[in-house]
Amino acid sequence: MNYSYLIVQEEGSVLSVVLNRPKAMNALNNGLLSEFNLVLDQFERDPGIRLLVITGEGEKAFCAGADIKELVELSALEMKAFLSLGQRTFRRLETIGKPSIAVVNGVALGGGFELSLACSLRIASETASFGLPEVRLGMIPGYGGTQRLPRITGKGKALELLLTGKRISAEEAYQERIVNVVAARDTLQTEVEQWSETICRNSPVSIRMIMEAVDVGSHLSMDNALALETNLDALAADSNDKREGFAAFLEKRNPIFEGK
Ligand code: CAA
Repeated sequence: MNYSYLIVQEEGSVLSVVLNRPKAMNALNNGLLSEFNLVLDQFERDPGIRLLVITGEGEKAFCAGADIKELVELSALEMKAFLSLGQRTFRRLETIGKPSIAVVNGVALGGGFELSLACSLRIASETASFGLPEVRLGMIPGYGGTQRLPRITGKGKALELLLTGKRISAEEAYQERIVNVVAARDTLQTEVEQWSETICRNSPVSIRMIMEAVDVGSHLSMDNALALETNLDALAADSNDKREGFAAFLEKRNPIFEGK
């Protein structure tokens, strides 16, 4: 597959995608989002791929958000279509049943920050920064930022970022539990590899069930969420992964999971 806006590479169980518009700070345009959906098709269909890693090309940006130049002239209806494409794409990423890591290697602003929030985990380089500047543009975050950020960091900090539009450092994002880990630029790749290896060694069946329990459960009452957890766990119990996991424990060896 030839991509114009992405660099896509498969390495073992990991599919890596690089947002490749460095001259525009890797801003999200229609073409990039459409291509990203093709990557999600591959991610979803190929059982050998267990993890998606997303980063930005170049030294400066993970992603500076929606392409402002493409948005300037849009009518309300065109804007609705553009926003809904991004929302559907990010929701698909979040609920696809396999984990994703945003490797935030520079600025993550607006839709770029929102893309990282739709990923399962965020690893930031120490030079990364995060912000939702839409309030300075007369818009609001339209790719889920008003919903995902408060769920991750809490309402108080989310409103601070949403209402001021200010940028925070990777270290502050870590303190606010927005990112999982901060790494120096020269150890970033090693850090990503370590997280990837750990996750890819685990049971894909467990991971799928955990992701559904956390996502769907967060919208339910505690009683209903616990019932969901029981049902998903019971479903996992009928998998080859569970048989392999238990057998490996009893035989004192490492399990080899197939995701079935
Ligand atoms: N869309 C389109 N082009 C962008 C862009 C964006 N979001 N962000 C940066 N660029 C372009 C710049 O226009 C510039 O292009 P030219 O060379 O053709 O002029 C190029 O990238 C380099 O940018 P700068 O010269 O500004 O570089 P800098 O290092 O001084 O600043 C920056 C970098 C802090 C990222 C700054 O460019 C910036 O603030 N960008 C806008 C960020 C923003 O407001 N994002 C929100 C977008 S709206 C959104 O995302 C809505 C939503 O929720 C869906």
